[in-house]
Order: sequence, then structure tokens, then C-alpha cells
Amino acid sequence: MNVSSRFDVSGYGVIVTGGASGLGLAYGEVLAAHGARVTLIDLDAETLGAHTGRLVGEGLNVRGAVADVTDHAALDRAIDEAAQEYGRLDVAFANAGIDPGVGFVGAWAGATRPRVAEGAIERYTDERWNRVIDINLGGVFATVRAAARHMRPRGFGRIIVTTSLAATTVEGAIGSAYLAAKAGARHFMHAAALELAADGITVNAIAPGFFVTNIGGGHAHQPEVQAAISKDIPMHRVGRPDDIKALALFLAAPASEYITGQEIVIDGGWGLGVAD
Ligand SMILES: NC(=O)c1ccc[n+]([C@@H]2O[C@H](COP(=O)([O-])OP(=O)(O)OC[C@H]3O[C@@H](n4cnc5c(N)ncnc54)[C@H](O)[C@@H]3O)[C@@H](O)[C@H]2O)c1
Repeated sequence: MNVSSRFDVSGYGVIVTGGASGLGLAYGEVLAAHGARVTLIDLDAETLGAHTGRLVGEGLNVRGAVADVTDHAALDRAIDEAAQEYGRLDVAFANAGIDPGVGFVGAWAGATRPRVAEGAIERYTDERWNRVIDINLGGVFATVRAAARHMRPRGFGRIIVTTSLAATTVEGAIGSAYLAAKAGARHFMHAAALELAADGITVNAIAPGFFVTNIGGGHAHQPEVQAAISKDIPMHRVGRPDDIKALALFLAAPASEYITGQEIVIDGGWGLGVAD
């Protein structure tokens, strides 16, 4: 068996939500670099335009679509247009997510990690709770639903949800909506995998540990935050978007056709210690 041919995604039609930055951008870049046709969907029109322009300049088949994943009608339109443009939708990354800024990682970086940030629940607003759930959980649901609509008739598809290591552990009340949304997304991923398996559609999740992206106001770019986190990570370094590309390609490619309903944790071993 020629295993390298099992990573051939050329010609695939792909959508990535939250594709203008961080992990979503990395997913889009690696798929496009391997010959797929990629639509990056994001609400940040300016950053989206800059990256699609750069990638098109590199000769890649990438387009952008501006949509907020909480606006399900707009998201449906963006996904329908991409599928129409390509004549097929093979891969969907349900990735867009926000939070955790200070109140999750930021609450303890550089110090001994507190198990519970005192008073965090009392300070947590309805507005923040609802927005985090709407994007990180409702957005995943709407993306998977739209993708399934295009994939089921063709009997083929790869759906990849970005969950989080935070979905597998409990760090007290801090970041509570984020943790709850990610755990919900993981559970929904399992249910969708079960429902879609017979129609040739796999549904898996990537659960990153700590990656340097713009999430939470970009606190992960600060060297002191990285140094503090790295001490807790057995491999002693934080993740970079490039680190996630091979896994994204694998889950999008024929190579992973017998894998569904799985959440794959990717980090330098942090997950080994967080639940202690
Ligand atoms: N960075 C990490 O350490 C880490 C760890 C675990 C999980 N994750 C998850 O990875 C995913 C990607 O996050 P990231 O770290 O790359 O962050 P990021 O902020 O760099 O990128 C997120 C992108 O999503 C877009 N976005 C936000 N809300 C949106 C909405 N309502 N509709 C459309 N687009 C929207 C943003 O504009 C941004 O371009 C998220 O689901 C996040 O929770 C990240």
C-alpha cells in the first residue's frame, strides 16, 4: 500500500470557520498547500482579506467569506456558496472560538496555579456566558449541520471540530463557559459521528493544549506567559499553529477514513498532568 497517496487532498472543497487566524488559518494553509480549494470563513473581514490575499499570492486556491458563526443564516450562505463554487464539500473545520483570556490561563500564568479563582462565578456575566456558548458550541452545531447537508448526498465527508484540552479537565469556575462549551462540542461531535458514520462522513475533534494564537486578546504571545506555561508542559514548550498542520491534514485525508468519533489531544504532554 502506498501510504503517501492516502494523504492526497488535491481538488477537495474545504471550509474553515475562524479561518483568519491561529489554528483555523493553519488548517486552511496546510489543506491549500496540498492542493485543496479552501474557503476561510471569519467575522474579521480585514484580517481575512490580508491572509487570503497572501495565500492567493503564493499560488494557493483560497478564498474568504465574511460571516459570524452565530448568524446561522449567514453561515449557511457562506458554506452553500463554497460548496457551489467547488461543486463539492469534502472537509469542514468547525473551529471558530473565543475566550479564554484572563480568567482561564491568564489567571495563573507565572504563579502557582490556583484551583479556583475566588469569586470568578460571581463576576461572570450573562453576556460573556451567552456569547461564548453561541460561538464555541452553537457555531459548531450550525457548521456541522450545514456541512452534513452537502456531504450526505455524496456519501463522503470529513468534519473536524476544534475542542480543547480544557474540555477534558476542570480548573474551578474560571473560564467556565469556555470549558462547558468545549465539553459540549466534544459530546456533540460524538453524536454527529454516530449519526453520520453510515453515510461515509467522519466526525472527529482536535483538542489542542496551549497554542500561540490570538485567542483571549493574544496573551499567548507574551514570552512570560509562554515561559510560565512551558514549565507545566512535559515537553517544555508551547504549541505553534505549524505544530497542528500534520494532524489536520491526516484527519482531512483518506488516511483517516476508519477513524470517527475521536477527540485527539495535541500538546506537549500538558494533558498528562492537568487533571491531577
Ligand atoms: N490557542 C489555544 O491554545 C487553543 C487551545 C485549545 C483550543 N483552541 C480553540 O481553537 C480554536 C481557534 O482558536 P485560536 O486559538 O486559533 O484563536 P484565534 O483568536 O487566533 O482565531 C480565532 C478566529 O476565529 C474568529 N472568530 C471569532 N468569533 C467568530 C465568529 N463568531 N464567527 C466567525 N469567526 C469568528 C476570529 O476572528 C479569529 O480569526 C477555537 O475554537 C479555540 O477555542 C485554542
